[in-house]
Amino acid sequence: MGSHLLESLAQRDIPVVILLRESSDRSFLRQLPPQVEVRFGSISDPASLAAAMANATDVIHCAGATKARTIEGFYEVNQVGTRNVVNAVNAHPGIRRLLHISSLAAAGPGTREKPVRESDPPHPVSHYGRSKLAGEEEVRQGCRHEFTIIRPPAVYGPRDRGFLPMFAAVKRHLRPTPSAAQRLSLVYVKDLAEASVEAFLHPTAAGGTYFAAGSEVVSSRELASLIAQNLKTWTIPLPLPTFALWPVCLLKSIQAAITGKPDILGLEKFPELRAAGWVCDPQRLTTELGIRCATDLQTGIQKTISWYEQNGWI
Ligand SMILES: NC(=O)c1ccc[n+]([C@@H]2O[C@H](COP(=O)([O-])OP(=O)(O)OC[C@H]3O[C@@H](n4cnc5c(N)ncnc54)[C@H](OP(=O)(O)O)[C@@H]3O)[C@@H](O)[C@H]2O)c1
Repeated sequence: MGSHLLESLAQRDIPVVILLRESSDRSFLRQLPPQVEVRFGSISDPASLAAAMANATDVIHCAGATKARTIEGFYEVNQVGTRNVVNAVNAHPGIRRLLHISSLAAAGPGTREKPVRESDPPHPVSHYGRSKLAGEEEVRQGCRHEFTIIRPPAVYGPRDRGFLPMFAAVKRHLRPTPSAAQRLSLVYVKDLAEASVEAFLHPTAAGGTYFAAGSEVVSSRELASLIAQNLKTWTIPLPLPTFALWPVCLLKSIQAAITGKPDILGLEKFPELRAAGWVCDPQRLTTELGIRCATDLQTGIQKTISWYEQNGWI
């Protein structure tokens, strides 16, 4: 998401400082616009954050751990890292607003019949979700400047590796066919970047929490079929009943323990996979701020396929 946010800011000629770690993947940052300055540090290193925020007028915090080797790893980045960001913002009186990127996982599951709204009591089901909720609380309770919280659902689009295995399987004529019951809200990554920047600049978004999602709701099964239609390819369905995902998650956890490389799938993820649905209602973003994530799924999937193909990812 960070590289897309950077492009949205650059399009508005907003000068930007980005915080990178020495180890950060810079594949999508090769041609940085001239108004972008790079500073090195980590949200886990408060001294580096203080230096990174020198002369900053606003802060966007989109770093986060979507996968971790241990349960504590989620909280170290998503809660403690956010606390460090909040403390650094508080120490800089010149900063106007902190935009914090959270997640639908912090709010918890919702169905097509009962989508989650911002006013609902949060009920996260995974450590990832609980750590993102704890990060939100760090912002709400600790931030002495203006803040806005954006909660995206599952993100797809160019550069995304989360949905890549599904696109790659369909390209190889295998169409994942999980339970049709669990429906999802999705957001096209460029819509998310634009919505985040617009909310960040919006005068009345201060103190608000907003879901930023497309209006369509699909099951992963329908999504795989849409990808197949857009790839114009024949496919064989690959049944993936929810109970069969548990051994997959177990294997991924064992693999991660052996290799030291966490996977987005793991036992920790299983409660999210078996949840009734991941549907949120993005109305508040539109009614209060006039912002919409407008890319329809058909267009978003086409653009994602084009990008994956052009870059040799599928
Ligand atoms: N992808 C989704 O479907 C989704 C959905 C909802 C919400 N979100 C949220 O959106 C945000 C961006 O996610 P993404 O999908 O873009 O994930 P991503 O590709 O994994 O990027 C996460 C970023 O966080 C940085 N980071 C992690 N730990 C850090 C630390 N200790 N110090 C500094 N930077 C650190 C990483 O930096 P390095 O390059 O140095 O590793 C990376 O740039 C996250 O907050 C995530 O929780 C994502």
